[in-house]
Amino acid sequence: MAEDLRCFVLNTGAKIPSLGLGTWQSEPGVVGQAVEAAIKIGYRHIDCARTYGNEKEVGLALKKLFGEGVVKREDLFITSKLRSSDHAPEDVPVALDATLEDLQLNYVDLYLIHWPVKMKKGSVGFQPENYLAADIPSTWKAMEALHDSGKARSIGVSNFSVKKLGDLLDVARIPPAVNQVECHPSWQQAKLKAFCESKGVHLSAYSPLGSPGTTWLKSEVLRHPVLVAAAEKLGKTPAQVSLRWGLQMGHSVLPKSTNESRIKENFEVFSWCIPDDLMVEFSKVEQARLIRGTFFVHQTLSQYKTVEDLWDGEI
Ligand code: A2P
Repeated sequence: MAEDLRCFVLNTGAKIPSLGLGTWQSEPGVVGQAVEAAIKIGYRHIDCARTYGNEKEVGLALKKLFGEGVVKREDLFITSKLRSSDHAPEDVPVALDATLEDLQLNYVDLYLIHWPVKMKKGSVGFQPENYLAADIPSTWKAMEALHDSGKARSIGVSNFSVKKLGDLLDVARIPPAVNQVECHPSWQQAKLKAFCESKGVHLSAYSPLGSPGTTWLKSEVLRHPVLVAAAEKLGKTPAQVSLRWGLQMGHSVLPKSTNESRIKENFEVFSWCIPDDLMVEFSKVEQARLIRGTFFVHQTLSQYKTVEDLWDGEI
């Protein structure tokens, strides 16, 4: 009998639904329909970020669904993220208020520092002249105040290495509940996962399909022979096996789709499981980080001179 794995429990005691709809690169004009379709199919977790530029439309879709009685606010788990240009402590509460206004909500279930990177207030894009040195302890204090206020029921980080997460844990009054990072069979994050587990931090997987639609990544994750062979044996699609692998590893997974049939396909991962003999096959998959964050790296203008600096060697 397959273990259901529909949710995991955070260190705040909150339950995080294990499958969430990703909204990175979901264009305005389609993201609202995607959120509506997902919630009607049964998704209860939507992963948002201010920097995706589509929270207003997500908010309109949520309002419609609440109005129609399709779902109640308390049955949803909504995540958003602090932009790099809002790291200054005085900007943190203003940024969350703007997100709440766009989402038309009184609180988010989870609020994350999006990157361990600080940029000048109001800057957009990745111009190196806008980089500043991140001061995570002071940004985190402002995040803790949001938790105290009840506007962010849990707080956490995204794109943090073992070193950066450890440094934060050393100074945090409230430990991060989540580290949301790239994770899929071709970038399994074994070291980070073990560290998170030892510290009670939940690992949430973005790009759990390896972002096949992101052309500059040239991702082959869903075509890997181990995944394809497992999918054939189980009568599932490679995408479903990739997501189910994540759930069985103990991660929550956040597949992005704006296509209703793929949104449905990605939700059909609960009533079956990958048997142990196939799970071990995944240890044979070659490992490579896809989202390297090179846009945050600059020899003179960024605190991160190399990609190795950004990820503290986890590359
Ligand atoms: P689409 O939105 O047209 O469905 P990730 O979440 O790893 O970043 O991957 C998102 C990409 O994967 C998007 O391009 C999305 O396209 C595509 N995608 C989502 N679900 C599936 C699926 N079940 N099979 C193949 N591609 C998928």
